[in-house]
Amino acid sequence: MAWVEGTFIWFDGDFVRWEDAKIHVLSHVVHYGSGVFEGIRAYKTPTGTAIFRLGDHVRRLYDSAKIYRMDIPYSQEELTRAIIETVARNGFDSCYIRPLVFRGYHELGLNALMSPVHVIIAVWGWGTYLAADAGAGGVDVVVASWNRIAPNTMPPMAKACGNYINSQLMNMQAVVDGYHEAIAVGTDGLLSEGTGENLFVVRDGTIYTPQLASSILNGITRSTVLTIARDLGIPAVEQPLPREFLYIADEVFLTGTAAEITPVRSVDRILVGNGEPGPITRRLREAFFAIVEGRAPDSHSWLTPVYS
Ligand SMILES: Cc1ncc(COP(=O)(O)O)c(C=O)c1O
Repeated sequence: MAWVEGTFIWFDGDFVRWEDAKIHVLSHVVHYGSGVFEGIRAYKTPTGTAIFRLGDHVRRLYDSAKIYRMDIPYSQEELTRAIIETVARNGFDSCYIRPLVFRGYHELGLNALMSPVHVIIAVWGWGTYLAADAGAGGVDVVVASWNRIAPNTMPPMAKACGNYINSQLMNMQAVVDGYHEAIAVGTDGLLSEGTGENLFVVRDGTIYTPQLASSILNGITRSTVLTIARDLGIPAVEQPLPREFLYIADEVFLTGTAAEITPVRSVDRILVGNGEPGPITRRLREAFFAIVEGRAPDSHSWLTPVYS
């Protein structure tokens, strides 16, 4: 996973150098996970760098903040402009973009409402997220022994910093045991999602994915895949899914801004299909990359040019 640091970080309205973007160790977010964030990608296209589904990501950031009663001191339009400027200022052709809204330094009590709300936007170069060979061969996943956070404990639809402690438990278990990634079941025992990806299963030509009530993030790549599937005439269903569906699937893949569309080669060491990425996964991947890289028409207006 090639990681290339950016040069400037947007911090509460100003650009500061990467190495100077610092906060106090007693900031609320450091102790209590009180932040919400986004992960967005900008891609190189023939007409210049373009940000994928920027409006949808900014909207989700504000939704996450609202759930946690955080007032973002900028309008969605201001933050959208700041994101575009941050990409331009750092000069990447393609990059990963991380806006983060967090509670800062005040008095360190659990009451979050007293702490000031800060915003940063960082960008960095980031290649394939899950495994260097993910596109070609797929990844090996394990069903985690930990359950996904539940809607009545920590709301999964908010992309909150604290949620990722649960994801880390699962991801560490997977990595230590020699897998690329973990898949979580919810407290109801039904399939939920990966630690930073949504989950798709293909059987007999139909695509299945857990519904929003299955403790998942409302993934933007997930929605992109459902839309592309509709465009290609591939049936796609959102519904509760039992764990064992994974073992009898023809194809399994994960989606996310970082992971893009990553085929799954095996689950709990049971091969998915014949262990090769299947035809539907390959079709969706091709259609996805053609759109984000500007090789196919942007018929859903998903691309925002950075330099226009
Ligand atoms: C827990 C979780 N689920 C799913 C996703 C995929 O969402 P998206 O496609 O919007 O990046 C992410 C990544 O943001 C995530 O962290």
